[in-house]
Amino acid sequence: MTTDLDQLRQNLVASIDAATGLDALEAIRVQALGKQGAITGLLKTLGGMSPDERQAQGPRIHGLREAVTGALAARKDALEKAALDARLAGEKLDMTLPVDGVPAGSVHPVSQVMDELAEIFADLGFAVASGPEIEDDWHNFTALNIPETHPARAMHDTFYLAGEHERPMVLRTHTSPVQIRTMMANKPPIRIIAPGRVYRSDSDATHTPMFHQIEGLVIDKGITLGHLKWTLETFLKAFFERDDIVLRLRPSYFPFTEPSAEVDVGFTWTNGKRVIGGSGDAAGGGWMEVLGSGMVHRKVIEAAGLDPTEWQGFAFGTGVDRLAMLKYGMDDLRPFFDGDLRWLKHYGFSALDVPTLSGGVGA
Ligand code: DAH
Repeated sequence: MTTDLDQLRQNLVASIDAATGLDALEAIRVQALGKQGAITGLLKTLGGMSPDERQAQGPRIHGLREAVTGALAARKDALEKAALDARLAGEKLDMTLPVDGVPAGSVHPVSQVMDELAEIFADLGFAVASGPEIEDDWHNFTALNIPETHPARAMHDTFYLAGEHERPMVLRTHTSPVQIRTMMANKPPIRIIAPGRVYRSDSDATHTPMFHQIEGLVIDKGITLGHLKWTLETFLKAFFERDDIVLRLRPSYFPFTEPSAEVDVGFTWTNGKRVIGGSGDAAGGGWMEVLGSGMVHRKVIEAAGLDPTEWQGFAFGTGVDRLAMLKYGMDDLRPFFDGDLRWLKHYGFSALDVPTLSGGVGA
């Protein structure tokens, strides 16, 4: 009996270790531990033994069962691991292969230009700020020195929200309220840009009820118009990727800046198209308005809770869609928001072509 059991254990363990697949292993398990299995048969003999015999044989037969069960589990683990390794090696995917038959997405020109602006201004030390698109009229108008009776309120073709509110609610008509929110939430010095959606009840080839603006705000001590001009010049050179950008600051009026200036860039007519660069006063040239700007009005600084004798700054704002049109040569604004895939295919940008200053912000 002793040698039989030892022999059986040796044989079973040897065939378990030699099994090359899970099926073969299962066949061995059934042979040893199944209903008709050799070890099952041995276990059954325990019932017919005398107590002495059982005391001697019981532990040995159970020991055999445990040894075989353990060997089966170990071999099963090893075979499964080998199968997984083989699968992983076999199912390797080459991510550099060209994609075929899968619709390729593209980046909308507005997103592309916003990314370009964030990249340019981040390099100048500006953070990106944001504010709500559903705004109250205090942030959108009053705090920006546009009181209720001010004609600029009518000029903005504002969408008002129905219903009772503590303060009348509007869809923000410009990104300028982010100036107020930023000044109220942060201690100066402040350097931010705020890109985002704005809304006006207006629609034609160059106006859509929703469009995009970007706001810029700097609040610090001793800030002058010179800082404003240098910042805009540096920004526009980086954005249009030309060193020959010439600016013209024209005196203008905005309620929230004093003095205020509209900023034009020079262009030259080339093959019937306006190409940005050079002085607009040169032969064959002209000026194109690109930005509104000015020194932040002391009333605005006060409304935001800062002392205007201590803090000064400049602000600017412009349309992101308009910048995209100028840089990438679209002449109608409406298709920007049509969701027409053909237009996007034509004007969209590769998702992998992320703008960087070192690589050139343009696509
Ligand atoms: N908020 C103005 C608009 O929507 C644009 C603007 C002009 C913003 C001058 C400014 C600024 O910050 O200084 O037309």
